[in-house]
Amino acid sequence: MAKILLVDDDPDFCAALVARLAQKGLDVDAAESGAVALARLRDHAYALVISDVRMPEMDGIELLRRVKEDRPQTPVLMLTAFRDVDGAVEAMKLGANDYLIKPVEGDILYAKITHILPEFGERPAGFESIVTCDPSMVKHLEMLDMVAQSNASVLLSGESGTGKEVFARAIHERSPRSSFPFVAVNCAGLPEGLLQSELFGHEKGSFTGASTQHKGKFEQADGGTLLLDEISEMPPELQAKLLRALQEREVDRLGGKRPIKVDVRVIATTNRDMQQHVRDGGFREDLFYRLCVVPITLPPLRERRMDILLLARHFLKEFCEQNQKSISDFTDAAAGWMESQQWHGNVRELRNVVERAVVLCQGNRVESYELNPELWVTPESDAAAADDPGRLDVRVGMTAHEVEKRLILKTLEESGGNKSRAAEILGITPRTIRNKLREYGLM
Ligand SMILES: Nc1ncnc2c1ncn2[C@@H]1O[C@H](COP(=O)(O)OP(=O)(O)OP(=O)(O)O)[C@@H](O)[C@H]1O
Ligand SMILES: [Mg+2]
Repeated sequence: MAKILLVDDDPDFCAALVARLAQKGLDVDAAESGAVALARLRDHAYALVISDVRMPEMDGIELLRRVKEDRPQTPVLMLTAFRDVDGAVEAMKLGANDYLIKPVEGDILYAKITHILPEFGERPAGFESIVTCDPSMVKHLEMLDMVAQSNASVLLSGESGTGKEVFARAIHERSPRSSFPFVAVNCAGLPEGLLQSELFGHEKGSFTGASTQHKGKFEQADGGTLLLDEISEMPPELQAKLLRALQEREVDRLGGKRPIKVDVRVIATTNRDMQQHVRDGGFREDLFYRLCVVPITLPPLRERRMDILLLARHFLKEFCEQNQKSISDFTDAAAGWMESQQWHGNVRELRNVVERAVVLCQGNRVESYELNPELWVTPESDAAAADDPGRLDVRVGMTAHEVEKRLILKTLEESGGNKSRAAEILGITPRTIRNKLREYGLM
């Protein structure tokens, strides 16, 4: 989990707060001055800076100003003495997220922190694989905690890539069935006959080519959890067989002489509107109600934008470990670009984009052009302009063509990849931009 930076010139105060917040599971680094804090901020991506206002040399207000200049997305919480409330007012004007009057009580500070960073709030244990700080997702998790203990069927709906399988696995892991198998079947990929044998199994010789006996997924999942992916695509005849299996808790192998008892909790997923599908006659209503004892709909990523950066940082860490790279964070422009995208492929798409960026990234922070190859600029021009996002590195000796290319790419980057907006700023048509990008080999 990301760290918090606490800045105060009183080491005893720091030690006490670090210990108190550690009890809440938060990882806090302490810095005894503004200068030390800035040095740490250069090396680490902190999720939050908590700073005292009154400190010798660089005070908290100056530190706040510098943090907001360098890393405007990093939230800052100010601590101030009662006699110094003016300082707090000034801090809020300068972009501080909140302030607390000293003496600071650990629980109140914790409440403020979780207000600014909901992902640091307490969540039901056992769902660590699900990264989210979105309030509606956290509500789902609280419900999952209860659902996991029961045998109730769960219907997980949501667009592709929203995390339905991650949720299904978490339910299984949290349930008393966790030491038994978790088995997944995709109901969309197979022709009816094969899907039937996949689910319910077959006896040797039950059809041409059935040279051995085959245990179906229901039997394989005995005692555990069966995930039926894309349940909406199940053919009508199999819907009837599935209903029977759920009601009777037994399955018939193809060519089998008697039914076989199975104890399975079923979780189904869909990216279609199942109620509509039932109304259209494509899905049995009785089966729908059997499967939909607990319905959970996962919102698309674009409807929980707070999760974007949180997930991106999670994947950054994962792929840095995998690729043995050390990249501390995303630049603010890169973070802004990610937050402005539609992510129709949801979390899966974000994960893929971050993976590619980690492979491409050459610096300490991921730049927006590494996330989006359309914005590709040469690294040295970008590094030179790093301290002022709107600045271009243009020198005598460059060709007009090169200067134009840099200006177009930089403008595109600043407009978050939006070609129409960039064209407007540049006073040219979006079509010209597209032609230029093609010319540069970027489209
Ligand atoms: N909340 C999350 N925290 C961490 N990783 C996530 C989260 N949601 C999704 N992912 C990751 O995103 C990818 C897609 O998730 P998943 O396979 O669960 O999506 P899905 O809804 O089942 O998609 P589909 O409908 O295409 O099968 C996976 O790599 C998964 O690990
Ligand atoms: Mg899936």
